[in-house]
Amino acid sequence: MSIAVYPGSFDPVTLGHVDVVRRAARIFDQVVVAVATNSSKRPLLSRDERVGLVRAATADLPSVRVEPVEGLLVDFCRGIGADVLVKGLRGGSDLDAELPMAFMNRHLTGIETVFLPADRSVIHIASSLVKDVARHGGRVEDLVPAGVVEVLRARLADERAGAGRA
Ligand code: PNS
Repeated sequence: MSIAVYPGSFDPVTLGHVDVVRRAARIFDQVVVAVATNSSKRPLLSRDERVGLVRAATADLPSVRVEPVEGLLVDFCRGIGADVLVKGLRGGSDLDAELPMAFMNRHLTGIETVFLPADRSVIHIASSLVKDVARHGGRVEDLVPAGVVEVLRARLADERAGAGRA
């Protein structure tokens, strides 16, 4: 049985992420979405919020499960017997960012990374841009799965309140 791990920060999950999960679920027997921490980014949403929103967005996919990951991704993959990592690619800059991680993960345990090209309908969507648009009052309802906007707005309000106190 093939098990693929789709890792990311998912801060927040977008329709682009959901597209990759759906495509991966057609290729592999099981897909585990690994909600991990990127040490170069400070997440806006808590880990539990990120996990919960990805779970809700993929609840209709029986071969998909969502897990939080602490520590090294490759250790998590080894622990669950995963064969491969899956990543989505929107363009060359994604590849530039992803290749070093793919090389490092393969160096660490030999695990391979498979890249899936994003669907053209979601190629403009990135979590960082969704947050920026929302932060400036723009509409993001058609960029993220149901339920995300409410959590995003709440955390951005916290952020503004925090900034006001500083
Ligand atoms: O969505 P992101 O932020 O591009 O995802 C990056 C992520 C979380 C997959 C990466 O930072 C990661 O794998 N973090 C877990 C810790 C780890 O294994 N680091 C070494 C990566 S080569």
